[in-house]
Amino acid sequence: MKQARTVERVITPQPVIEGAGVRLKRSIATPTLDYVDPFLLFDHFGSDDPEDYLAGFPWHPHRGIETVTYMLAGEVDHRDSIGNAGRIGAGDVQWMTAGGGIMHEEMPQAGEDRRMGGFQLWVNLPAALKMAQPRYQDLSAAQIPEVRRDDGTVVRVVAGEVDGVGGAVTEIYAEPEYLDVSLPAGAHFAQPVPWGHSALAYAFEGEGRFGVAADLGYRGDLDGVQLTAPQMAVFGDGDVVRVEADAAPVRFLLVSGKPLGEPIARYGPFVMNTREELQLALRDLQTDTFVWRDDPEWARQRRTWSADIWER
Ligand code: FE2
Repeated sequence: MKQARTVERVITPQPVIEGAGVRLKRSIATPTLDYVDPFLLFDHFGSDDPEDYLAGFPWHPHRGIETVTYMLAGEVDHRDSIGNAGRIGAGDVQWMTAGGGIMHEEMPQAGEDRRMGGFQLWVNLPAALKMAQPRYQDLSAAQIPEVRRDDGTVVRVVAGEVDGVGGAVTEIYAEPEYLDVSLPAGAHFAQPVPWGHSALAYAFEGEGRFGVAADLGYRGDLDGVQLTAPQMAVFGDGDVVRVEADAAPVRFLLVSGKPLGEPIARYGPFVMNTREELQLALRDLQTDTFVWRDDPEWARQRRTWSADIWER
């Protein structure tokens, strides 16, 4: 008998101030929830007061991870050390693989309606790819497929697959799924998620019941757990995630991916496998050797844990 994924934890986001003074709501990378392998951080930014976001994220480094920015409203100007520069706006996605070292700047702009909103997710890289060449996938809103069902459900497929429609972002190690689901009152949504993959949902508008087994004929929780935006559900293992909207509509992100099961050493914008690798990252910053180089010896020296694995 198949298993409907049940909600194991409900996370209410915590207010934090990040960058040069940006107010955000954080659900992963807090004292309550350190990470959900392979997801290392989840931030929700949203405000109609430019004072909350204009300070932005001036020039800073990343190593060992991917950062995924999905915009709901407003605009962010960005540039980086591999030569990308531009503006991402409502509905756009920036999937950045920092790999062995990137420097970038992310500066929100106050538009006419002063609103700014979106999400940033960090996805871990396996040891073998932590020092890989940085890569950047920039997808405009028009490039992100939208699935519209007869019951009024709308799904924007950033990554993964819904009703045979493949997502815009591909070739990511964690085989992630990243869906933006708008569910009208009375509708339900069931999405298969591979066994063993981590799965979470983040309700950001309205309310709904998450992790429901009803009508599936599966093992699980018949009623599910009520989430009221903004809240995150972390699911247990199983075949499918089901969400139901009762009297009110709900809009949520459904995110899943393959866990790495590797040691995690993190310090600010670096996530490596060992403390030594973090120390190297800091030393590289001080000596101006941080940004990725096409030099196998440079990369080998910065990958202590995976080197051990390969030599065994
Ligand atoms: Fe960043």
